[in-house]
Parts: sequence; C-alpha cells; structure tokens
Amino acid sequence: MLETKRVVQLRSRGFYVRMRLLHGTRSSRNPEKGFCYRYFKWILWLSISFYFFSSFLITRSKPSSSISRTTVSRSKPSRALIEESLLNSSSLQHLQIPDGLFKGMKVYVYELPSKYNSDWLSNERCSSHLFASEVAIHRGLMRSDVRTLDPWEADFFFVPVYVSCNFSTVNGFPAIGHARSLIASAIEHVSAQLPFWNRSLGADHVFVASHDFGSCFHTLEDVAIADGVPEVLRNSIILQTFGVKHKHPCQDVEHVVIPPYIPPETVRATLKKSPATGPRDIFAFFRGKMEVHPKNVSGRFYSKKVRTEIWRKYGGDRRFYLRRHRFVGYQSEIVRSTFCLCPLGWAPWSPRLVESVALGCVPVIIADGIQLPFPSAVPWAEISLTLAENDVDNLGKILEHVAATNLTSIQRNLWDPLVREALLFNVPILEGDATWQVLDALSKKLDRSHRKTLLRGQ
Ligand SMILES: *[C@@H]1O[C@H](CO)[C@@H](O)[C@H](O)[C@H]1NC(C)=O
Ligand SMILES: *[C@@H]1O[C@H](CO)[C@@H](O)[C@H](O)[C@H]1NC(C)=O
Ligand SMILES: *[C@@H]1O[C@H](CO)[C@@H](O)[C@H](O)[C@H]1NC(C)=O
Ligand SMILES: *[C@@H]1O[C@H](CO)[C@@H](O)[C@H](O)[C@H]1NC(C)=O
Ligand SMILES: *[C@@H]1O[C@H](CO)[C@@H](O)[C@H](O)[C@H]1NC(C)=O
Repeated sequence: MLETKRVVQLRSRGFYVRMRLLHGTRSSRNPEKGFCYRYFKWILWLSISFYFFSSFLITRSKPSSSISRTTVSRSKPSRALIEESLLNSSSLQHLQIPDGLFKGMKVYVYELPSKYNSDWLSNERCSSHLFASEVAIHRGLMRSDVRTLDPWEADFFFVPVYVSCNFSTVNGFPAIGHARSLIASAIEHVSAQLPFWNRSLGADHVFVASHDFGSCFHTLEDVAIADGVPEVLRNSIILQTFGVKHKHPCQDVEHVVIPPYIPPETVRATLKKSPATGPRDIFAFFRGKMEVHPKNVSGRFYSKKVRTEIWRKYGGDRRFYLRRHRFVGYQSEIVRSTFCLCPLGWAPWSPRLVESVALGCVPVIIADGIQLPFPSAVPWAEISLTLAENDVDNLGKILEHVAATNLTSIQRNLWDPLVREALLFNVPILEGDATWQVLDALSKKLDRSHRKTLLRGQ
C-alpha cells in the first residue's frame, strides 16, 4: 500500500516537471536565449530520465507484496493460472495492446479461492461447452496487456466466478441453481478483502452470465423474470448472452450482449477440411431439439412451438435437411449448408448463431426481438436473414427468393474473416475477436471508472 502511494506521488511530480518544461519553452523567446536553451535541455534530460526511472518503479511495484498482502487468499489453482499467464506472456503470444487503444483502460482480475472457478475445470466440458465464455474471458484477460496487477490503477474489476459448470448427472445440462449464492459469496469475499467493491458498490465490477436468461440465472423465462437480476449485481456490469430489443427484467442492469461460446479450435479444424467458400450441397439445415408434441411447462412451450412448426411443415421437404438427434460431426454439415436455421429455444439466442457465421452458412434468425452481439463489429442485417416467429410457414418461399436474388452478396459479407473472428473467444485474445469486442464495449463505459473520474477532476 505504501509503495502504491509513493508511485502516485512520483507521478504527480512528473506532472509538475512537465509543466515546468512547457513553461520553459514558452519563455525561450526572451533575450537570454542561450541560458534558457541550456536550462531547457537540462530539464528535458531530467524529465526523460525521471520518466524512465518512475516507469521502472511503477512496473517494478506491480507484483510487489504490498498489494498481494491485502489481496484475497491465495488458493493453489488460481496461483497456477497466474503463473501460467506470466509464463505465457513472456512467450509473446498474448495481445500487446498499443497505448491509446481502449483509452488506456486497465482491468484488475480478482484472485478468488478455487471453489469459485478453477475447481470446476476438473470437468473438461467446463471450458468448452456453449456457456464457457465465462472461462475464456477470464483466461484471455489474465494474459492480456489491459490487465493490471495493481488494483489501485484499475478502471474495472473482473470477478471470475464460473457458474455454468455444475453439470447435472441426470440430463447433462448445467444446473445453475447455485449461481446466485455462489456469486453472492464471491462478492462478500472481495468486499471484505479489498476496498474496491465498497467504494463503488460494484459499479465498476464486471461479471459473466452466459446461460439462457443471463443475469436472471434461470432457464425458464417466467421463473427468471420473477427472480430478476440479483440485488447484489444490480449496480454492476454483466456480460451476458441474453439480449432482447424490448425492456426485459433480465437485462435491467448495465450489460454487454456477448455471443455463446464455440471453441475456436473446432471451427478452425472444420474450416481446414472444408473452406467456407467451398461448395454447399445442403439448401437449408437444422439439427437439434424439435418436439413433435411440445410439453406445456408452466404455461410455456419450448421454442414457442416454432421448431415444432418447422418440423411439421418442412420435415418431409427435400430442400430441408432437418435432424432431431445429436451428432458430434454436425459442424461438417453446417459447412455444407447454404442456409442454417437459428430458431429460439427457451431463450432467443442459440449457439447456432455463432456456428453458422463462423462456418459461412447464412443464419436464418427466428427469434422475435432478439438483440444480437457486437453490432458495431458484425453487420447482422447484411450477413443474415430474419424471419418473424409467426412467418415460419413462408420459410421455404423466402429462402428460394433470397437464393434467386441477393444470396451472393449476403455470402460475400458473411465470409469476411473479421466477421467470423468477432464472435470467437480466443486465449490469448486476438485483435478483433469476441473478448476484444468486450474490452471495446467496456472502454465505452469508462464513466464508471473511479480512476478516470479522479483524473478528470485534476
Ligand atoms: C501457454 O499457452 C499455450 C497456448 O496458447 C498452451 O499450449 C501452453 O500450455 C501454455 N503454457 C503454459 C505454461 O501453460
Ligand atoms: C450443483 O447443482 C446442484 C443442483 O442444482 C446443487 O444441489 C449443488 O449444490 C451444486 N453444487 C455446488 C458445488 O454448488
Ligand atoms: C465493505 O462493507 C462491508 C459491509 O458494510 C463490510 O463488512 C466490509 O468490511 C467492508 N470492506 C472493507 C474492505 O472495508
Ligand atoms: C398450459 O398450462 C397452464 C398451467 O400451467 C394452463 O394455464 C394453460 O392453459 C396451458 N396452455 C395450453 C395451451 O394448454
Ligand atoms: C436480401 O433479400 C431479402 C429478401 O428480399 C431482404 O430481406 C434482405 O434484407 C436482403 N439482404 C441483403 C444483404 O441485401
């Protein structure tokens, strides 16, 4: 703590020297030019060497024990993560963020006991299933240059809690019943250990909520709505897969809509075998749950019966390749398809959005009011088709019409590698990828940064 203070003092002295320097140049118009010139050179030399000296101090003070002494208890697995990140940062693999990008934003990543995150990784699915952005964003941040080890210089505080990795032994889906209490307990932990949560009441703290109804932490919309966003999170910033254009209790919080997680390695492996621009012999594709007689689950039907309707109307249509059962090699089918149907499930979003775009199959989005991720990086209107939920009967006609008119221009837009990259979470972060887009979105919320507010006040 003492060292941190000293650094702050040194920095403000650096500011003073710069002011003197400016003053010096202005007064060099007077007759005593020679003296001023020498004086100016001296100050320049002093301030440059001071700059290097102080930046040396600042860099050196980062991993110092003064910070970690007050830091959260050190559990072995997250120590391992940090060491791994340090090792890898020297191998030049991580993202070097040029100064000025993201407005110089810094993110502090809390070091939490392993029960909040790394313990879950013992199940391999934890880091690769569709909700795994909570893991990938954490890992990406650990290795990136926006990360600071000094919480005093942070604009944002990332709280790495993995809540979607408790897989049910019955159906294999993540059970998120424990999510609220796990997050509440993590917040209790960080607010007791360090002063930053209390300082902002969480306003500069960032969480990931990557399952169906995001920060409502329930798979059924009516329960999700009734529960709402947990009280403790309402001040914070949530990175969530759920997003709709209308007002909804599950996005009644500062948030960024993020894509679901698809492992970038699998996409690259598929594209290596069959490039996105290759031949596509399947006209329209869908593989997934399509209930013939959907159950009434507390007044709601899966996919609002849209998938049932698709199956009923097009199940026997030769142009449509519809399958109701899981198949691990389904990416090879997407890369062979021209149109990929992305109807809602329980929630409006689905992993098919990312898989279709990444593999160059035109997404046909059927989910009324859906808010799609990263609209500034992904020109959704130019790379996809949107169909109203009650317009499924016209699906065949609409696809034929597009195939006969503007399909080539849609595909040209879609096959832009930058578009694909924006929806994939890489570790380490790659320029323009999904975690990069998250950082870009956070840098537009710097009005929440305590540090930036202080700097503005100076
Ligand atoms: C560093 O990252 C690479 C891939 O990015 C990974 O294969 C390797 O295991 C990491 N190194 C360590 C020491 O964990
Ligand atoms: C995992 O989920 C189950 C079912 O929701 C719950 O009973 C259990 O407590 C959870 N496990 C942990 C470690 O939170
Ligand atoms: C933050 O506030 C809580 C509740 O008022 C308190 O228990 C905790 O000790 C505070 N944390 C710090 C670091 O002062
Ligand atoms: C579905 O079930 C609810 C009760 O949970 C009932 O009120 C509603 O009428 C049912 N809807 C249909 C279409 O059967
Ligand atoms: C292609 O045509 C369809 C149907 O006419 C239209 O809805 C869509 O906006 C067009 N897309 C592009 C990128 O031109």
